[in-house]
Amino acid sequence: QYMKEITGLEKIEQQLKEKFNLQKVIVVPGNSDEERRVKQELGKACVSFLKKVVQDHMVIAVTGGSTMSLVAETMTPLNKKDCLFVPSRGGLGEQVENQANTICAEIAKKANGEYRLLYVPDPISEKAYQSIIEEPAVQEISNYIQNADIVLHGIGDAVTMAKRRKTPDEQIQKIKESNGVGEAFGYYFDKQGQIVHKVRTVGLQMEDLKNMEHVIAVAGGASKADAMESYFKNGQSNVLITDEAAARLLTASY
Ligand code: G3H
Repeated sequence: QYMKEITGLEKIEQQLKEKFNLQKVIVVPGNSDEERRVKQELGKACVSFLKKVVQDHMVIAVTGGSTMSLVAETMTPLNKKDCLFVPSRGGLGEQVENQANTICAEIAKKANGEYRLLYVPDPISEKAYQSIIEEPAVQEISNYIQNADIVLHGIGDAVTMAKRRKTPDEQIQKIKESNGVGEAFGYYFDKQGQIVHKVRTVGLQMEDLKNMEHVIAVAGGASKADAMESYFKNGQSNVLITDEAAARLLTASY
Protein backbone atom coordinates (compact mmCIF):
# COMPACT_ATOMS: atom_id res chain seq x y z
CA GLN A 1 0.00 0.00 0.00
CA TYR A 2 2.76 2.41 1.01
CA MET A 3 4.78 1.66 -2.12
CA LYS A 4 1.70 2.28 -4.22
CA GLU A 5 1.29 5.73 -2.71
CA ILE A 6 4.93 6.54 -3.37
CA THR A 7 4.59 5.44 -6.99
CA GLY A 8 1.49 7.65 -7.28
CA LEU A 9 3.46 10.70 -6.21
CA GLU A 10 6.30 9.83 -8.58
CA LYS A 11 3.85 9.82 -11.44
CA ILE A 12 2.57 13.29 -10.50
CA GLU A 13 6.14 14.53 -10.15
CA GLN A 14 6.82 13.36 -13.69
CA GLN A 15 3.64 14.99 -15.01
CA LEU A 16 4.46 18.31 -13.34
CA LYS A 17 7.99 18.16 -14.68
CA GLU A 18 6.64 17.89 -18.20
CA LYS A 19 3.85 20.41 -17.72
CA PHE A 20 6.14 23.19 -16.47
CA ASN A 21 9.28 22.01 -18.26
CA LEU A 22 11.31 21.61 -15.06
CA GLN A 23 14.49 19.71 -14.24
CA LYS A 24 13.24 18.35 -10.96
CA VAL A 25 9.94 18.18 -9.08
CA ILE A 26 9.51 16.88 -5.54
CA VAL A 27 6.00 16.25 -4.19
CA VAL A 28 5.46 15.63 -0.47
CA PRO A 29 2.23 13.97 0.74
CA GLY A 30 -0.60 16.10 2.19
CA ASN A 31 -1.97 19.65 1.97
CA SER A 32 0.01 22.45 3.59
CA ASP A 33 -3.11 24.64 3.77
CA GLU A 34 -4.42 22.25 6.40
CA GLU A 35 -1.34 21.12 8.29
CA ARG A 36 1.76 23.03 9.32
CA ARG A 37 3.56 19.67 9.37
CA VAL A 38 3.19 19.43 5.59
CA LYS A 39 4.74 22.88 5.14
CA GLN A 40 7.61 21.66 7.34
CA GLU A 41 8.00 18.68 5.00
CA LEU A 42 8.33 21.15 2.11
CA GLY A 43 11.06 22.86 4.11
CA LYS A 44 12.84 19.56 4.76
CA ALA A 45 12.63 18.52 1.11
CA CYS A 46 14.10 21.89 0.14
CA VAL A 47 16.97 21.50 2.60
CA SER A 48 17.84 18.00 1.31
CA PHE A 49 17.67 19.15 -2.30
CA LEU A 50 19.86 22.16 -1.51
CA LYS A 51 22.44 19.83 0.03
CA LYS A 52 22.67 17.89 -3.22
CA VAL A 53 23.43 20.92 -5.37
CA VAL A 54 25.30 23.36 -3.13
CA GLN A 55 29.07 23.64 -3.49
CA ASP A 56 31.87 25.54 -1.76
CA HIS A 57 31.85 29.35 -2.28
CA MET A 58 28.30 29.52 -3.62
CA VAL A 59 25.97 32.47 -3.08
CA ILE A 60 22.41 31.54 -2.14
CA ALA A 61 19.58 34.09 -2.33
CA VAL A 62 16.40 33.50 -0.34
CA THR A 63 13.00 35.22 -0.48
CA GLY A 64 10.57 35.79 2.36
CA GLY A 65 7.26 34.16 3.27
CA SER A 66 5.95 31.54 5.67
CA THR A 67 7.14 28.65 3.48
CA MET A 68 10.69 29.99 3.41
CA SER A 69 10.54 30.52 7.17
CA LEU A 70 10.01 26.77 7.52
CA VAL A 71 12.99 26.13 5.24
CA ALA A 72 14.93 28.19 7.80
CA GLU A 73 13.42 26.23 10.68
CA THR A 74 14.53 22.89 9.20
CA MET A 75 17.98 23.95 7.94
CA THR A 76 21.05 22.04 9.20
CA PRO A 77 24.79 22.57 8.53
CA LEU A 78 25.66 22.38 4.84
CA ASN A 79 29.27 21.33 5.47
CA LYS A 80 30.54 23.50 2.62
CA LYS A 81 33.20 26.20 2.62
CA ASP A 82 32.30 29.90 2.36
CA CYS A 83 28.66 29.74 1.42
CA LEU A 84 27.08 33.17 1.47
CA PHE A 85 23.36 33.75 2.01
CA VAL A 86 21.67 36.95 0.86
CA PRO A 87 18.03 38.10 0.93
CA SER A 88 16.52 38.34 -2.55
CA ARG A 89 14.84 41.64 -1.70
CA GLY A 90 13.88 43.81 1.24
CA GLY A 91 10.81 43.53 3.45
CA LEU A 92 7.97 44.09 0.94
CA GLY A 93 5.82 45.26 3.86
CA GLU A 94 5.81 41.81 5.49
CA GLN A 95 5.93 41.15 9.21
CA VAL A 96 9.46 40.63 10.42
CA GLU A 97 9.23 36.80 10.64
CA ASN A 98 8.22 36.65 6.97
CA GLN A 99 10.90 39.03 5.72
CA ALA A 100 13.71 37.79 3.52
CA ASN A 101 16.36 39.41 5.79
CA THR A 102 15.16 37.54 8.89
CA ILE A 103 14.91 34.23 7.06
CA CYS A 104 18.28 34.72 5.38
CA ALA A 105 20.04 35.29 8.73
CA GLU A 106 18.40 32.24 10.32
CA ILE A 107 19.11 29.95 7.37
CA ALA A 108 22.74 31.09 7.24
CA LYS A 109 23.30 30.52 10.95
CA LYS A 110 21.84 27.03 10.86
CA ALA A 111 23.72 26.17 7.67
CA ASN A 112 26.99 27.43 9.24
CA GLY A 113 27.25 29.91 6.39
CA GLU A 114 27.91 33.63 6.10
CA TYR A 115 25.21 36.19 5.43
CA ARG A 116 24.80 39.77 4.25
CA LEU A 117 21.57 41.69 4.65
CA LEU A 118 19.83 44.35 2.61
CA TYR A 119 18.98 47.40 4.70
CA VAL A 120 16.79 49.45 2.42
CA PRO A 121 13.25 50.73 2.79
CA ASP A 122 11.00 48.54 0.77
CA PRO A 123 8.85 49.17 -1.22
CA ILE A 124 10.64 52.30 -2.32
CA SER A 125 9.76 55.30 -4.50
CA GLU A 126 11.32 55.65 -7.94
CA LYS A 127 13.22 58.75 -6.81
CA ALA A 128 14.65 57.16 -3.66
CA TYR A 129 15.43 53.99 -5.63
CA GLN A 130 17.53 55.86 -8.18
CA SER A 131 19.67 57.44 -5.46
CA ILE A 132 19.93 54.45 -3.13
CA ILE A 133 21.26 52.13 -5.84
CA GLU A 134 24.22 54.50 -6.16
CA GLU A 135 25.32 53.69 -2.58
CA PRO A 136 28.44 51.46 -2.63
CA ALA A 137 27.17 49.28 0.23
CA VAL A 138 23.87 48.69 -1.58
CA GLN A 139 25.67 48.02 -4.86
CA GLU A 140 27.88 45.45 -3.22
CA ILE A 141 25.00 43.37 -1.89
CA SER A 142 22.99 43.87 -5.09
CA ASN A 143 25.90 42.36 -6.98
CA TYR A 144 25.86 39.30 -4.77
CA ILE A 145 22.10 38.96 -5.24
CA GLN A 146 22.17 39.35 -9.01
CA ASN A 147 24.98 36.83 -9.34
CA ALA A 148 23.64 34.24 -6.92
CA ASP A 149 24.22 30.59 -7.83
CA ILE A 150 21.08 29.35 -6.12
CA VAL A 151 17.74 31.03 -5.40
CA LEU A 152 15.18 29.61 -2.97
CA HIS A 153 11.78 31.24 -3.34
CA GLY A 154 8.12 31.00 -2.44
CA ILE A 155 5.06 31.51 -4.65
CA GLY A 156 1.98 33.18 -3.22
CA ASP A 157 -1.64 33.79 -4.12
CA ALA A 158 -1.75 37.34 -5.54
CA VAL A 159 -4.53 38.91 -3.49
CA THR A 160 -3.54 37.10 -0.27
CA MET A 161 0.01 38.42 -0.64
CA ALA A 162 -1.04 41.96 -1.55
CA LYS A 163 -3.28 42.15 1.53
CA ARG A 164 -0.71 40.58 3.85
CA ARG A 165 1.82 43.20 2.70
CA LYS A 166 -0.58 46.06 3.46
CA THR A 167 -0.51 47.08 -0.19
CA PRO A 168 -2.44 50.34 -0.81
CA ASP A 169 -6.09 49.78 -1.79
CA GLU A 170 -5.73 51.19 -5.29
CA GLN A 171 -2.92 48.73 -6.03
CA ILE A 172 -4.94 45.80 -4.69
CA GLN A 173 -7.78 46.99 -6.94
CA LYS A 174 -5.40 47.10 -9.90
CA ILE A 175 -4.21 43.55 -9.19
CA LYS A 176 -7.83 42.33 -8.94
CA GLU A 177 -8.99 44.15 -12.07
CA SER A 178 -6.14 42.73 -14.09
CA ASN A 179 -6.97 39.25 -12.76
CA GLY A 180 -3.76 38.80 -10.81
CA VAL A 181 -3.53 35.24 -9.43
CA GLY A 182 0.09 34.53 -8.58
CA GLU A 183 2.98 36.26 -6.86
CA ALA A 184 6.71 35.64 -6.58
CA PHE A 185 9.67 37.99 -5.86
CA GLY A 186 7.25 40.93 -5.41
CA TYR A 187 5.91 40.46 -8.96
CA TYR A 188 2.21 39.71 -9.52
CA PHE A 189 1.05 37.58 -12.48
CA ASP A 190 -2.24 36.93 -14.27
CA LYS A 191 -3.37 33.51 -15.52
CA GLN A 192 -1.34 33.90 -18.71
CA GLY A 193 1.78 34.59 -16.67
CA GLN A 194 1.91 38.29 -17.62
CA ILE A 195 3.18 40.69 -14.96
CA VAL A 196 0.25 42.84 -13.79
CA HIS A 197 1.99 44.58 -10.90
CA LYS A 198 5.50 44.84 -9.56
CA VAL A 199 6.78 46.25 -6.29
CA ARG A 200 9.73 48.52 -6.98
CA THR A 201 12.51 47.25 -4.72
CA VAL A 202 16.26 46.98 -4.66
CA GLY A 203 17.33 43.37 -5.07
CA LEU A 204 16.49 40.43 -7.27
CA GLN A 205 14.64 41.15 -10.52
CA MET A 206 12.95 38.52 -12.68
CA GLU A 207 15.48 39.00 -15.47
CA ASP A 208 18.36 38.13 -13.10
CA LEU A 209 17.00 34.59 -12.77
CA LYS A 210 17.93 33.72 -16.36
CA ASN A 211 21.62 33.47 -15.46
CA MET A 212 21.17 31.39 -12.33
CA GLU A 213 22.01 27.74 -12.10
CA HIS A 214 19.40 26.59 -9.60
CA VAL A 215 16.14 28.47 -9.09
CA ILE A 216 14.14 26.46 -6.59
CA ALA A 217 10.45 27.22 -6.02
CA VAL A 218 8.90 25.96 -2.78
CA ALA A 219 5.12 26.28 -2.62
CA GLY A 220 2.24 24.03 -1.65
CA GLY A 221 -1.40 23.91 -0.59
CA ALA A 222 -4.53 23.51 -2.71
CA SER A 223 -5.10 27.28 -2.39
CA LYS A 224 -1.91 27.97 -4.35
CA ALA A 225 -2.57 25.79 -7.41
CA ASP A 226 -3.74 28.69 -9.63
CA ALA A 227 -0.95 30.91 -8.36
CA MET A 228 1.64 28.27 -9.23
CA GLU A 229 0.11 27.71 -12.65
CA SER A 230 0.30 31.44 -13.40
CA TYR A 231 3.87 31.78 -12.15
CA PHE A 232 5.16 28.84 -14.19
CA LYS A 233 3.70 30.18 -17.46
CA ASN A 234 6.76 32.42 -17.74
CA GLY A 235 8.68 31.34 -14.65
CA GLN A 236 12.44 30.95 -14.72
CA SER A 237 12.62 28.35 -11.97
CA ASN A 238 13.96 24.91 -12.79
CA VAL A 239 13.01 23.07 -9.62
CA LEU A 240 9.64 22.83 -7.84
CA ILE A 241 9.08 21.48 -4.36
CA THR A 242 5.36 21.19 -3.65
CA ASP A 243 2.73 19.09 -1.90
CA GLU A 244 0.24 16.52 -3.06
CA ALA A 245 -2.83 18.79 -2.79
CA ALA A 246 -1.39 21.45 -5.12
CA ALA A 247 0.17 18.83 -7.40
CA ARG A 248 -3.09 16.91 -7.86
CA LEU A 249 -4.98 20.05 -8.87
CA LEU A 250 -2.21 21.05 -11.26
CA THR A 251 -2.20 17.66 -12.96
CA ALA A 252 -5.99 17.05 -12.88
CA SER A 253 -6.28 17.24 -16.67
CA TYR A 254 -3.65 14.52 -17.20
O1 G3H B 1 7.08 36.00 -0.46
C1 G3H B 1 6.06 35.33 -0.20
C2 G3H B 1 5.77 34.14 -1.00
O2 G3H B 1 5.66 34.44 -2.36
C3 G3H B 1 4.63 33.33 -0.48
O3 G3H B 1 4.54 33.37 0.92
O4 G3H B 1 5.10 31.11 1.72
O5 G3H B 1 3.81 32.67 3.15
O6 G3H B 1 2.76 31.66 1.15
P1 G3H B 1 4.04 32.13 1.77
